[in-house]
Order: sequence, then C-alpha cells, then structure tokens
Amino acid sequence: MFLPKAELHLHIEGTLEPELAFELAARNGVTLPYADTDALREAYRFEDLQSFLNLYYELMAVLRTERDFEDLANAYLARAAAQGVRHAEIFFDPQAHTSRGLDIGTVVEGLWRALGNSEANHGVSTRLILCFLRDESAESALATLDAAKPYLDRITGVGLDSAEVGHPPVKFRAVYEAAAALGLRRVAHAGEEGPPEYITEALDVLGVERVDHGLRCVEDPALVERLVRDRVPLTLCPLSNVRLRTVDTLADHPLPAMLDAGLMCTVNSDDPAYFGGYAGDNFDAVRATLGLTDERLRELARNSFLASFLEDDEELRARYLAEVEAHTFR
Ligand code: ADE
Ligand code: ZN
Repeated sequence: MFLPKAELHLHIEGTLEPELAFELAARNGVTLPYADTDALREAYRFEDLQSFLNLYYELMAVLRTERDFEDLANAYLARAAAQGVRHAEIFFDPQAHTSRGLDIGTVVEGLWRALGNSEANHGVSTRLILCFLRDESAESALATLDAAKPYLDRITGVGLDSAEVGHPPVKFRAVYEAAAALGLRRVAHAGEEGPPEYITEALDVLGVERVDHGLRCVEDPALVERLVRDRVPLTLCPLSNVRLRTVDTLADHPLPAMLDAGLMCTVNSDDPAYFGGYAGDNFDAVRATLGLTDERLRELARNSFLASFLEDDEELRARYLAEVEAHTFR
C-alpha cells in the first residue's frame, strides 16, 4: 500500500507520456520530429530548466481538442491514484495553448471532463491552478486571467512557472492583485533556479500561500527562519531537481536538512513523464536514497494535506489526515 498523499506541484502538460504523445499526434495529424517513443525518450537528457522547457512546449503541439486534454488528465489521475495520491492540485499553462490558437475554454473544459469525475472514477479529489508563464509579458498574464473569467468556478488559484531567472515575481504584481480580488488562491515557483530573493518577493509582493520548489531558501538562514516561523509550505520535487541539475545527485538533496530545520516540506513530481517518476516514485526515491524514517515520510504526507487548498472541504481533509495516521509502513 502506498502512503496516502496530496500532490501539490504537478503540471498536467508534464504528464504527457511518449506513448500518448504519439497517439495524439496520429489522431490530430501532427508530425513529431522523433521516429518513435524510444527516440523521443532519448531527448530526455536535460542540461537545465530551459532545455527541458524547450521539449515540454514542443510536445504540446499534439494537444488540440477537449478530448485530448481529458485523456491527458485521466491518464495522470489513474497513475497518481495507483501511487497513493488521494488529492491533486493540478497546474495548467493556458498561454502555451492559446499561443497556438486554442481557446482557453477547450483547455479548461477538456481538463474538467476528467477532473469533474475524478473522485468517482479514480478516487482522487482535485483542484485546478492556472499558471502564468513568467517569460511572457505581464500584459499577457492579465489578458489570460481575463480570458479565464468564465471558468473561475473551476479554478481554485493561480501560479507562476516557466523560465525563472530574469523574470522576478514583482513583474506579476498587478495580475496577482487582480487574482486575489477575484478570490483566487496564490502560489508561485520561486527558488528553483532563481535566487532566494525571488522567494521573499513572491511572499511579500505576490502574497503567495505556498512556494513551489523554494529549494534555494537554504542559502539564506534568515529566510529559512521566516518560512519555519510562518509555516510556509514548500512543494519540493526531488526527481525533477536531479533531472534539471538543480542538485548534483539525489543523495545531495537538502530535503533531510530542510525537514530537520523545521521547514514545512512536501514531495511532488512536477513533470513526471519527463523526470522519471510519479508522486509515489518520488517518495520511494527519497526514502531509499536519503534514508528518511517512516515518521519523516508520514510528516511529508501529513504536510501535503495540511498545505492543500481544502479549506472548502475540511471534512475531506480530516478524512485524508486520518488515512495518513492509520497507514502502516512495511
Ligand atoms: N513548467 C513545467 N515544469 C516547470 C518547472 N519545473 N519549473 C518551471 N516551470 C515549469
Ligand atoms: Zn513546476
């Protein structure tokens, strides 16, 4: 039995497995510049975040219809459920699709066909988080939020992703203010490749409630102290950090030290089709390589539900937390 957990850092476009990419390419008459799935997998050798993003955006060309987004999300939910994920707060990148001529409604409605039935079909509750691409303009982010207005009953919050360095959180002050005024929850990637100052800025300027990655906080003791004091959740993605060379090897990952420091860490998969594992695989890897005790693993699972946006269903959160406490390791 997998430890029950919430996944809080998951890009739905990053769950596109090579087999599904080729299936959708055939269905939509799109030609991919790879001979087959093996050739595509050969391209999964990344130097850094940007080299990954180049492939990530390239493969999105196969996503064209509501049914494509539905199939993508159902494939993820089935795999996540099989690894103990009970609740998933799922990122999507509308600008990566509207820039290719798709309507944002195609994306949201398609994802919702899967997410809206996920509790019944997969036993996984879900929330949807709209991410702005930080290497696009602030105006484009505002236009995206505006285009999303008809769908806000399906969208719980906003996030910020894509190429981090050179695109500080302050660039998106206005759109985060507008999102807050609409009652949306706020998160942002910060401190993945960018400096600790971006984490501070995401908290102070964007008012984020969770920090996605936040890994580089360890370089600033005063920031660590603040994150501990305020119990700010960090959505760490260990296998992603290895594949994108944010850490040299998994054995070098600061997760154990971060937990020892009292940081509210969670473990997530980021883009599991590209980084070698889903949520349960990330838990297994940190257990095997970093020697986390059963109680540390239970703490990570507990944190994931405590940090989730389940304020609208505290009964469900309590049920999940009870599942975590009842779990027996072997
Ligand atoms: N988009 C998808 N995965 C991402 C990551 N790890 N960092 C920033 N943007 C992303
Ligand atoms: Zn991410």
